[in-house]
Amino acid sequence: MIAPLRILALAGIAAAAVVDLESRQSASQITTVDLSVNLGTPVHRASGVLYGVPNTKNQIPSTFYTGMGFNYLSAGGAQFTGSTGWIFGGYTGRFQDVLSNFQTARQFGAQFILKMSDLWGTDGTQGSNGVYPGVNTDFTEFDAYLTQLVSDLKANGMTTNIKLLIWNEPDLVNVFWGGSMAQYLAMWSHAVTFLRTNLAGVPIAGPAFAGAPTSSNTWWTSFLSHVKADGTAPDVYTWHHEGSSTDATNDLQNSQPAMVSLLNQFGLVIGEFIIDEYANVGEQNPSSAAWWISRFERFNMSGLRGNWLSGANLQDFLSGLLWKSGSTYFGNGEWQMYNYYATSMTGHRVATTGSTDRLMDNYAVVDTNIVRILVGGRLVTGTYSLQIKNLSALGLATAGTISVLTRQFSFAGTEGQEGAPTDLGLVAHTYTGNVLSFPIFQTDTVTTWAFEFSF
Ligand SMILES: *[C@@H]1O[C@H](CO)[C@@H](O)[C@H](O)[C@H]1NC(C)=O
Ligand SMILES: *[C@@H]1O[C@H](CO)[C@@H](O)[C@H](O)[C@H]1NC(C)=O
Repeated sequence: MIAPLRILALAGIAAAAVVDLESRQSASQITTVDLSVNLGTPVHRASGVLYGVPNTKNQIPSTFYTGMGFNYLSAGGAQFTGSTGWIFGGYTGRFQDVLSNFQTARQFGAQFILKMSDLWGTDGTQGSNGVYPGVNTDFTEFDAYLTQLVSDLKANGMTTNIKLLIWNEPDLVNVFWGGSMAQYLAMWSHAVTFLRTNLAGVPIAGPAFAGAPTSSNTWWTSFLSHVKADGTAPDVYTWHHEGSSTDATNDLQNSQPAMVSLLNQFGLVIGEFIIDEYANVGEQNPSSAAWWISRFERFNMSGLRGNWLSGANLQDFLSGLLWKSGSTYFGNGEWQMYNYYATSMTGHRVATTGSTDRLMDNYAVVDTNIVRILVGGRLVTGTYSLQIKNLSALGLATAGTISVLTRQFSFAGTEGQEGAPTDLGLVAHTYTGNVLSFPIFQTDTVTTWAFEFSF
């Protein structure tokens, strides 16, 4: 992390250096904002969490939920103490856990995604005793489970604000699925048919593959061909983005168009896409999370933060945004960035582009008389440039001087408390040609910044 004073000094020389810097910089290092393109009201689509919510209601004070814009929760009772799921003697304890989580989601107006495979008992800890639905095409036990589940969902008012996720990461064979792909596909169709008959109108989500859609991923191509053939396509397509930061397919910029193209190829309806687990553990910092946010906003996709804790911590801390001292919760630097994203970035969204090296991006909004731009780099250092186009769309002259305020989001690790972002003050930048440009000095991989100017 860098001391605020050093940044101020750098920002101070920026105005003079702008022209030189721009001529040196290639598109690979420029992220842009186009103030003339209105993309509608922000709904902070990346403010979802996987697990992260305690079984005891109100254990985490409500300001931490509302402050990060909490709007999606996925859970199913994984690794819940005292109950291991349907196949290990019943799911009663896990279901109570799910019910509590569902009620917390509803309390904050958030949607709930039920990981049905957790309730079955497949949460990654099942080991060699795990059994999977449909062995030898026998679905007797699975039907008993589905019958009980439908009854419990109805009895507890869990048929709205909910999506039913049939199976988590079956493509991680021997972690979350222990049968063949054919057995998985048969299980999928069986579950969808059962649920559509017995719980009509409740949306089905899936396939929640760990791997992003590509035309060479046989889990995806087999799944899409299978659901097209028997009419069991999910209502909402979900998948995960928690792989390597250097894997080009582990990026919405790749997977969103790939998904659209696959659905067209298989003649399926293009509905809503949700990434119900995003960012690998190293990417859970203010800068990389802001990079993910920029992409979720660009593609209008909802995102739920991945969860890299385990045991009792899995269902706490809003998926790595909080920590606690004794029983007192506090927000870390990443929570502060989500707080800014969800509560300060009001008005309307405007169009942006990421750098062509795909490592720097931004999310921008225009409110009545202020522009707010949150930048984020994907575990990158170096000097990038922020280019803000069409200032005249705000009623500003096409040339002049604008004073830009910088707010710094620092990070002292997941367990490190951070306060509100540091106000680094105003720096005046001159501009011409209806475009304002200034550098982003990304001197470490985790700190990030928001830039604001009034008009
Ligand atoms: C996202 O939504 C906005 C507003 O409706 C729309 O203009 C834009 O084209 C959408 N982007 C994508 C990639 O669908
Ligand atoms: C926005 O800026 C770009 C180039 O910077 C220009 O091509 C485009 O016409 C501008 N749009 C409007 C609405 O002024």
